[in-house]
Amino acid sequence: MDKKLKELSEEVYRELEAIQSNEQLEGFRLKFLSRKGAFAQLFEEFKLLPKEEKPKYGQNLNKFRQDVNSKYDELEKKYASSVKSEDVFDYSLPGRKKKTGSTHIITQTMDQIVELFKNLGFNVHEGPELESDYNNFEALNFPEDHPARDMQDTFFVNPGFLLRTHTSPVQIRLMQKQQPPIRAIMPGKVYRNEAISAKSYCLFHQIEGLYVDKNVTFAELKGTLVYFAQQFFGQGLKYRFRPSFFPFTEPSAEMDIWWETPEKGGRWLEILGCGMVDPNVLRNVGIDPEIYTGYAFGMGVERTCLSRYGMSDIRTLFDNDKRFLVQF
Ligand code: DAH
Repeated sequence: MDKKLKELSEEVYRELEAIQSNEQLEGFRLKFLSRKGAFAQLFEEFKLLPKEEKPKYGQNLNKFRQDVNSKYDELEKKYASSVKSEDVFDYSLPGRKKKTGSTHIITQTMDQIVELFKNLGFNVHEGPELESDYNNFEALNFPEDHPARDMQDTFFVNPGFLLRTHTSPVQIRLMQKQQPPIRAIMPGKVYRNEAISAKSYCLFHQIEGLYVDKNVTFAELKGTLVYFAQQFFGQGLKYRFRPSFFPFTEPSAEMDIWWETPEKGGRWLEILGCGMVDPNVLRNVGIDPEIYTGYAFGMGVERTCLSRYGMSDIRTLFDNDKRFLVQF
């Protein structure tokens, strides 16, 4: 301890003498007086000394430190600025990034689809999730005894109102307000009273499309949907249209795309329903089917999302598991 103290005091006084600038003074402070400096270390060692030696060294150490501190204070006054490096705020440091949430994969997919149709001149429209039986079924030409009206599929709030089972009622709302030409894309949530499984959920999202004008044809419908699918899934896409039935379109079709899967080689995947708006629907909203024709389509967002990212269980989209969500 004696030797150490001696060596340190020699070094300290030598360096104190040599100080000629604020920078050197700061260097001295860091080396000897700061929390990790030589003095602090010496005091740590002092703590470990046997009891009987403590008084002697304690006094010497304290005196030494007081002396050095007062010399340091003098020099600090002399070199005017008392700025220490810890006090300096470095304005050039890049900011720390705050972690924020990200857009959910379903919303991202919907935004991309809507954007594609916006570029084709479609306007975006939304409707309420709580809908009347009239808009959801009757105006869309669903017969009184249609199975979709069954309690097993539909969440009824009361006999006249329900949670919409598809986005097609937004077509009705729009056509009631507006005469053609109408070109609209309508994204939103829909509800069905189904058993929850890997393939179906009680809540999901759809995107509805509608184009009503003079001389709208099925060829235009096909052209638009093929363009959409190629933009969304890729140019080399294989697709097909199959005849189908919906109460609100005549003729009706479903569009499938060929989906390559590594295990099974690939399969046809239904991505949407579509057709020419049934004259009865146009009549229900006060549009003359002798003058106007229209096409409509509706697609499920979750399914598109699952196939695009090679996922197999729809429930992962609703679990809100951060480990899943941060990947997108
Ligand atoms: N609403 C239909 C459903 O939920 C999908 C659909 C099919 C929408 C054909 C349409 C259409 O606009 O023309 O299954």
